[in-house]
Amino acid sequence: MKIGIIGQGYVGLTISVFAAESYVVTGYDLNSQVVENLNRGISHIEGVSNSSLQKILKSGSYFATTKNSDLRDSDIVIIAVPTPLGPDRGPDLQFIESACRTIGSAIKHPVLVINESTSFPGTLRNFIKPTIEKYSRLSIEHLYAISPERVDPGRSDFNQKNTPRLYAGLTPEASTKTREFYSRFCDNLVEVSTPEVAEAAKLFENTFRQVNIALVNEFAQIAHSLGISVYETLDAANTKPYGFMKFTPSAGVGGHCIPVDPTYLAAAAEKHGVAATFIRRANEVNLEMPKYVVRRVAADNGGNLQGKSVLVVGVAYKPNVADVRETAAELVIQQLRSQGAVVSWHDDVVGTWKSESSAPLEGADIAVVVTKHDSVDARLILASAPYVFDTTGKVEGATQF
Ligand SMILES: NC(=O)c1ccc[n+]([C@@H]2O[C@H](COP(=O)([O-])OP(=O)(O)OC[C@H]3O[C@@H](n4cnc5c(N)ncnc54)[C@H](O)[C@@H]3O)[C@@H](O)[C@H]2O)c1
Repeated sequence: MKIGIIGQGYVGLTISVFAAESYVVTGYDLNSQVVENLNRGISHIEGVSNSSLQKILKSGSYFATTKNSDLRDSDIVIIAVPTPLGPDRGPDLQFIESACRTIGSAIKHPVLVINESTSFPGTLRNFIKPTIEKYSRLSIEHLYAISPERVDPGRSDFNQKNTPRLYAGLTPEASTKTREFYSRFCDNLVEVSTPEVAEAAKLFENTFRQVNIALVNEFAQIAHSLGISVYETLDAANTKPYGFMKFTPSAGVGGHCIPVDPTYLAAAAEKHGVAATFIRRANEVNLEMPKYVVRRVAADNGGNLQGKSVLVVGVAYKPNVADVRETAAELVIQQLRSQGAVVSWHDDVVGTWKSESSAPLEGADIAVVVTKHDSVDARLILASAPYVFDTTGKVEGATQF
């Protein structure tokens, strides 16, 4: 069986590597540099090692391409392209649309199309299917299914094999074929009744995290005003063996999922006349955290950051990855600069970002820790400036929430 996977990023490449153990996979991406590197056995994704990529390249079960004609013999085509927010901060399906155009123009026989990209309920039925049909000059009856991706880059305990996977087809035949496909490399497949349930479940999973993060971020501010330790209080609450799940405060949320997916759910709600006030407010609380952090830092440093050298430690959106999409560090840096601070950042995992390079971990007046990678020694962070504000709770001895 031949599998075409559109998009070779975090999701598409991860799924390619697992699928290539059982199938012949063509990884299609518009980015020629990514494709060139993949064919040379160089992975750009944490969690996909060069050696696992080289293994499937060598066995002939995988190759990457920028030519959509290479997808033409596929039996199954998977969509794994970005679903960001547009300029109006609403859902932006332009990449899904272009993937649909590729399928419509390249595939001349019926295939199973599976969407793994995150989007609002109804995307498979009301957008992907009609868009592929619009771009296909022939009248082909494809099968359609959704299986939202749950990969957590940088995580080793849960992977494609042991993470339960939701799926649903538009027809029973699509569901059956989807199950057959994933069952080769996923142990726990959970069928739901409609694609809309699977699409909504994915959005709700990340919305659950977003609102709980916002709640603990708000609580961090309350705890500080009460003169108690937020961490000790959370640990105390966490001794309750049921009905409580511990989240920890942070400078905000980043990445492609938590700041984005809830907005897709809110937009769908509002389109149907339901005000998603809770989701919208949670987003605001998280987006306001950088301001709060910088206010605290300024208050502890004479109320004024003008001319002070501030080192932001960790600009990736989470530990142990190089991904800076929607990172809270960006807003922290903006806030610091707006107060007149001279800001540099240290993050050797990211290396280069916005044409700036990672600065040495030393010699600042102030350090603000946004993300703590495992590879960075907390003692070196503490020694990098006379005042260190740590938003991660991992740098003992620093000022914390
Ligand atoms: N990264 C995650 O941890 C994660 C987890 C679960 C779900 N998701 C969802 O999966 C989807 C993909 O996310 P990602 O993180 O893999 O994105 P990514 O940016 O890492 O990769 C997307 C790739 O798609 C390529 N691309 C864009 N349009 C294309 C097109 N028309 N044809 C071919 N290639 C195209 C890009 O060049 C890029 O290499 C999104 O909907 C995201 O929300 C991501």
